[in-house]
Amino acid sequence: MSKPPVKYSGPDRVFSGVQPSGDMHLGNYLGALKKFADLQNDHECVYCIVDLHAVTVWQDPAKLAGQTRNIAAAYLASGVDPDKAIIYPQSKVAAHTELAWYFNCVARIGWLSRMTQFKEKSGRNAEAMSVGLYDYPVLQAADILAFKATHVPVGEDQKQHLELSRDIAQKFNNDFNVPGFFPLPEPLIKGPGARVMSLRDGTKKMSKSDPSDNSRINLTDSPEKIAKKIRKAKTDAGVMPETVAEMEDRPELKNLVGIYGAFSGLSDQEVLSQYAGQGFGVFKPALADLAVEILRPVSERMNTYLDNPDEIDRILAKGADAAAEIATPIVADVRKVMGFWGT
Ligand code: AMP
Ligand code: TRP
Repeated sequence: MSKPPVKYSGPDRVFSGVQPSGDMHLGNYLGALKKFADLQNDHECVYCIVDLHAVTVWQDPAKLAGQTRNIAAAYLASGVDPDKAIIYPQSKVAAHTELAWYFNCVARIGWLSRMTQFKEKSGRNAEAMSVGLYDYPVLQAADILAFKATHVPVGEDQKQHLELSRDIAQKFNNDFNVPGFFPLPEPLIKGPGARVMSLRDGTKKMSKSDPSDNSRINLTDSPEKIAKKIRKAKTDAGVMPETVAEMEDRPELKNLVGIYGAFSGLSDQEVLSQYAGQGFGVFKPALADLAVEILRPVSERMNTYLDNPDEIDRILAKGADAAAEIATPIVADVRKVMGFWGT
């Protein structure tokens, strides 16, 4: 009879990361940043700026450090408190790359070849992409498991990468006969804003890499710009329906109602009940007002931090030390488990 799997019995820990590879937008804010701040009060939280992931595609060396400070400023402006949570850049903690190598030897090529994000990012040009871009989800698993993190707040698009992290954790535990050594990390995806769509196409997610700036609301957009982008957002010719079921084949409407709900704390049905029968001429300005009300303070705080790069650098350096203190012994244990000389 096979033994029941031994469950991980260590403490709960939250880990997540954002790439310093472009402007932060509303999808990042609702899908990730807002949850980061909510979790820090009752969990141990580690929030990384994943610059090693960013360089899987070309990054200008003259801009990388500034982009890293930008993401730090966005974390802080969204309410992440450096006295409660750890904020640091990935490249400053060597445990990430070391564990990624060990995991390269645990993960299977077949698992990686199923990753849809690589297919989306590489398009028909896969042969010309960096090896790093293909290997990206293995590094992500190493990020999470170098901290034995149990919970990972992310947007819906990261679901498959989280499943891979669980598969790697499970295979490591099995292969080296260390049941419960690594936790099987759980994604925290639910909630409004898990998948914010483009303002120009309700079937595509809002993304840093969309060539059209009008497709997204950036955290640094001025109130006028936010209002204009919402006014110009693609919609259909109908009016606001009464029920959620009637939104099914109206992706742009569904997206805007979802954004309104995420800002106001209302369910989709409650938003519809408020606006049923009205045209977009009424709904869009109301949404724009709400968006500005919520995002203006975030953007102001972000600018205040960016005016103080020394303060950001101090927070990042302190965070890197704290992160290394957790991750270094965990990776040392991995070396022992794998039987390397000198361990
Ligand atoms: P990225 O911009 O790809 O580095 O993503 C950083 C975080 O934001 C991840 O947790 C993503 O899942 C989340 N995210 C990115 N785009 C969206 C979106 N359109 N809707 C919701 N979450 C998103
Ligand atoms: N792949 C994530 C994204 O594009 C970023 C990321 C890297 C991450 N490492 C992580 C997210 C670890 C959560 C946990 O959004």
